[in-house]
Amino acid sequence: MAVKALGSWVRAVDARDAGALLRLHRELWIDHDLRGGMPAAREDTVWTAYGGVLERQLSHRDGRRAPTGPFEGKLGHLVAELEGRVVGQVEVYLDRFGFHARTPHIAELRSLIVTQDARGHGLGGALVREAAASSRARAGDVTLVSAEVLARNEALAFYDRLGFRTLERLSALSAPVARTPGISVRTARPGDAGELTMIDHRTRQRRWSWGDPRFDPPSTSVGADLVRLIADGIALDDAQRGSEPGRAREEIIARDATGRLVASAYFVTSPLGAPFAPVIRAEVARLAADPDDEASVAGAFAVVGEAFERASAFGARELLVRTPFLDPIGANLAELPGARHFSWILAAPAGTILRRSTKP
Ligand SMILES: CC(C)(COP(=O)(O)OP(=O)(O)OC[C@H]1O[C@@H](n2cnc3c(N)ncnc32)[C@H](O)[C@@H]1OP(=O)(O)O)[C@@H](O)C(=O)NCCC(=O)NCCS
Repeated sequence: MAVKALGSWVRAVDARDAGALLRLHRELWIDHDLRGGMPAAREDTVWTAYGGVLERQLSHRDGRRAPTGPFEGKLGHLVAELEGRVVGQVEVYLDRFGFHARTPHIAELRSLIVTQDARGHGLGGALVREAAASSRARAGDVTLVSAEVLARNEALAFYDRLGFRTLERLSALSAPVARTPGISVRTARPGDAGELTMIDHRTRQRRWSWGDPRFDPPSTSVGADLVRLIADGIALDDAQRGSEPGRAREEIIARDATGRLVASAYFVTSPLGAPFAPVIRAEVARLAADPDDEASVAGAFAVVGEAFERASAFGARELLVRTPFLDPIGANLAELPGARHFSWILAAPAGTILRRSTKP
């Protein structure tokens, strides 16, 4: 593993690290809460219970039994030591959003932290570089490392130095969205799948042209198989409606006065558990609309407005809306009254990170 400087190094996590990881997680999630991220639990009892979870999760990693490397299936976990003390950590989740040979494996960084008094020694950079190297060793040369960074976090400068660039924005809405008359919204039905497939296809083409490399290149045509897949997805969401408290998966569509399907939003909610405060996280995970078409833009605002109302009914305080960084609709949503920049999704090829330094 990477030896960065005398007295500091990065290695795979071990069962003995559970106590140190609990302290690091607590520091990280309270820091994120104070920066406008998801609210963290403050009660000692919750954190003690969470410590027990970490201990159980790591108990089989005793340095003699497998796994000995940072990865266990799709999950990687690294810690940084400084003079014999565990002072930092990062988790990595390996995923892939397609099948094309050039579509990268995604190594998503999670919970990166170096404790306050150990910062500025290069350990944060060493953790990200080691995560990039071990992900590439596992998934292959075409590996893209991604991270979500809160908008109010100066760590953006840190990622910038490592070669990351912004792919998506998440905006947080906390007030209702004004609707344009003539636009009607409702939950999608399987019969909408044909039209939905078409606007989804154009949204994929736009995302591709805006330079997001995480997905397969959009196909040149839309086939009946894809329409059936989307119809099945809608039917499945419908069948699962209400099956778990606080959990929603709904495609919301907007039609203009002529009945044309002009926009859609995939709305998801999930209840957060420890170490977060017990709140509902609500998100528009996919917004499909044409920024060059006035009715479609009005439709986008209408589906987001509808998602906001549904989120409020679920008890969520905010609705997060995820859009490509270059999408003007996303930029306009972020300017609505009661909206704020929540976070950025950044990414860099593993090879780029390994050539960079966090030092100027
Ligand atoms: C981001 C973080 C992991 C960096 O760890 P680190 O060990 O200090 O990072 P490094 O020493 O490898 O790199 C430091 C360089 O990156 C930049 N950098 C790191 N953190 C920065 C920050 N908070 N603000 C501005 N620049 C920062 C600096 O330019 C610094 O260069 P310098 O040494 O010349 O000052 C650490 O600040 C941290 O844990 N922050 C709180 C948790 C967090 O925000 N995690 C990221 C979640 S997305």
